Amino acid sequence: MKLLVFGKNGQLASELQLILNSIKEKKFLSSTEANFLNVDSIVKNIRDFNPTCIINAAAYTAVDKAESEEPTAKQINALAVGVIAEEAKKLNSHLIHYSTDYVFDGSKAQPYSESDRPNPINAYGKSKLEGEQLIINSGVSHVILRVSWIYGNHGHNFYKTMLRLGAEKEELKIVSDQIGCPTWSKSIAKATAIILNDQQLLEKSGIYNYADEGVTSWYGFAEEIFNQYRLLKPNSFTNLKKIIPIHSNEYKTAAARPLNSRLNCGKIKNTFNVEMSDWKASLQSALKENLN
Ligand SMILES: NC(=O)c1ccc[n+]([C@@H]2O[C@H](COP(=O)([O-])OP(=O)(O)OC[C@H]3O[C@@H](n4cnc5c(N)ncnc54)[C@H](OP(=O)(O)O)[C@@H]3O)[C@@H](O)[C@H]2O)c1
Repeated sequence: MKLLVFGKNGQLASELQLILNSIKEKKFLSSTEANFLNVDSIVKNIRDFNPTCIINAAAYTAVDKAESEEPTAKQINALAVGVIAEEAKKLNSHLIHYSTDYVFDGSKAQPYSESDRPNPINAYGKSKLEGEQLIINSGVSHVILRVSWIYGNHGHNFYKTMLRLGAEKEELKIVSDQIGCPTWSKSIAKATAIILNDQQLLEKSGIYNYADEGVTSWYGFAEEIFNQYRLLKPNSFTNLKKIIPIHSNEYKTAAARPLNSRLNCGKIKNTFNVEMSDWKASLQSALKENLN
């Protein structure tokens, strides 16, 4: 296998670098080496390296900023992805790409399946959906993993923000009416490694949901972060007295967010034999790693 990965320093790609360590012929590219705002650099990198598999972990992930920078989000999350897909198709290379629960509007009462109709309610979700469609239309052998609520010890995410704010503040107000499943970046990297090793990738082309197992709200996630951290390191967050659950409409953001981000992950389990971990168990592992 000759593997090319875009998005080198992102939270997910940082885990991929560790998990895919044993693959000998591989190259990880940052936005400086292959900038998605310049498609020529994407094409050149792909043609020069001639990969048998491409993983695209690069994305424009600033959900709120995307509302005022829609053309940039579209270029990075859709048009550049279309170029990668076309190039991969020409080389008969497989493409593994990540998408999001934000392609849905969140109005469904149950977890979303891959066959549910997308209806993004923000610019980021629209750009990610367009990226999915360009991959599918290209005819490339692909696996699109729709993932949710990524956190981990690399990069920027809610979990790291909570660890920081919990040490600084006496009181935190956290949204409690958006539900989903926090998913450790390492869990997604492990699932990606399993997919990468599958011998029938072409036949299994398609969209797959992937999330850790369980359901909570951002408020529930925050509480669990502090509770588990205190178990591992007593006397932490001693100034933090109160965590207050609030509704989304009390926390104004530029981009609307789906209230239900739950993903049904039956398809990926059955097709690739991927095992999901309970989100609280994943969180414990992430926190232990953080404290080491
Ligand atoms: N974060 C979440 O909660 C979440 C939820 C659902 C789905 N997803 C999806 O999961 C995937 C991975 O997300 P993540 O959280 O790991 O993202 P991330 O930490 O924000 O990393 C994204 C990476 O994309 C690269 N990038 C940004 N602009 C670029 C450009 N103009 N040209 C080339 N590369 C560029 C950067 O790589 P370098 O730093 O190396 O330059 C950046 O580190 C993305 O597809 C995202 O849409 C994320």
